[in-house]
Amino acid sequence: MTGQRFDFSKLIAERVPPGAAGRAAARARYDFGTGFPDPDSFPWQGLHEALGRALKDKGRDLVRYPDPQGHPELREFIADKLKRERGMTVHQDQVLVTGGSGPAIALFVQLLANPGDVLLTEEYTYVGTLGIMRNLKARIVGVATDQEGMRPDALEQVIRDLARFEVKPKMVYTIPSFQNPLGTDMGMQRRKDILAVAQKYSIPIYEDDAYEDLRFEGARSPAIGSYDDSGMVLYSGTFSKILGPAMRVGFLTAPEELLPRINAMHWGRPTSEFATLASLYYLRDHLDDHVDEINGILRTRRDAMIGAIGEYMGSVATVSHPDGGLYLWLGLPEGSSTVAASEKARARGVAYLPGPSFSPSGGGGNYLRLCFGYERPNAIREGIATLAEVFAQQGMLNTKR
Ligand SMILES: Cc1ncc(COP(=O)(O)O)c(C=O)c1O
Repeated sequence: MTGQRFDFSKLIAERVPPGAAGRAAARARYDFGTGFPDPDSFPWQGLHEALGRALKDKGRDLVRYPDPQGHPELREFIADKLKRERGMTVHQDQVLVTGGSGPAIALFVQLLANPGDVLLTEEYTYVGTLGIMRNLKARIVGVATDQEGMRPDALEQVIRDLARFEVKPKMVYTIPSFQNPLGTDMGMQRRKDILAVAQKYSIPIYEDDAYEDLRFEGARSPAIGSYDDSGMVLYSGTFSKILGPAMRVGFLTAPEELLPRINAMHWGRPTSEFATLASLYYLRDHLDDHVDEINGILRTRRDAMIGAIGEYMGSVATVSHPDGGLYLWLGLPEGSSTVAASEKARARGVAYLPGPSFSPSGGGGNYLRLCFGYERPNAIREGIATLAEVFAQQGMLNTKR
């Protein structure tokens, strides 16, 4: 017994970021904060049945360590799905099963970014990706967007501007389908145009396709990766949005020559075979029906939320109208602070994420993101009514500020 705490602080490796405590915040009464799907349609019975079948077939294999790249049958299922739905030709050996697509983002960013390297993203982007990039001390530059997401002309301009300082970005990270948080969806031509710019300047694209399954309107465009014959598109997807994030099943695909390097970084972190097998056996039989069911629910919730925003916040608020995904992007008059108001909203039981969380530069102070996936339509209406009261009390629903 020394009576003193051991001091790790001087021993911790330099690359390790300071981080934050890993506790999840208590759930708000009206949870529009995190990107959760609908809990009522989580197919627990189907997964239970699927897992039972899978264990009967393959239970004996669970005494062995799993394939480090992920179960070959799931990789084959993913490769088929990508061919059928995204127009991509990938061999199952190019697929790595990951614990959701968050780890895929970490792997791709770690693969390419040294501290100080520049990575390009949409002007607002997924908070998790920003966190990973910041932890690796990358410099993140946002590219302007329009209704279809990242603008090719703006991308080219940013690349040229950086070139004047002899800086070449290491990656263009984009979420082409139902962008988080903006909800934008790139059409076919836009996808080709973004790829053309990246090819012109030899900068790889990382296509994060987390939301394409949640398309409830509009025509599906092939993935950017489907147009690429040069092997410069890295790609990830996830089952978090169609099953649930707690399943932790996602995947990445990359040119074959990169897999050994990626596997080396991923070593010792395979996804649980329990989750893998349950997802595989369930999705093999029920993918299309389940996706149809949840998309019907999501469409209703999107409409409920847009309707409630119009009713309670009036025309002062601008709101996106996405054809899929989980989020609305709400704009309030210049000078509003959605960061300050989020505390007040929390105290009234409403959670949302303020705009600056999504911005590489911390901008977007008068914007916020609302997830319409988790709460039922009645709760959506109540929550938006409460939120409108909070904003009105903060003077954020006045036309003149
Ligand atoms: C764009 C995007 N990519 C990746 C993820 C990561 O999700 P998961 O790790 O659950 O697959 C999310 C989660 O919200 C996301 O919005």
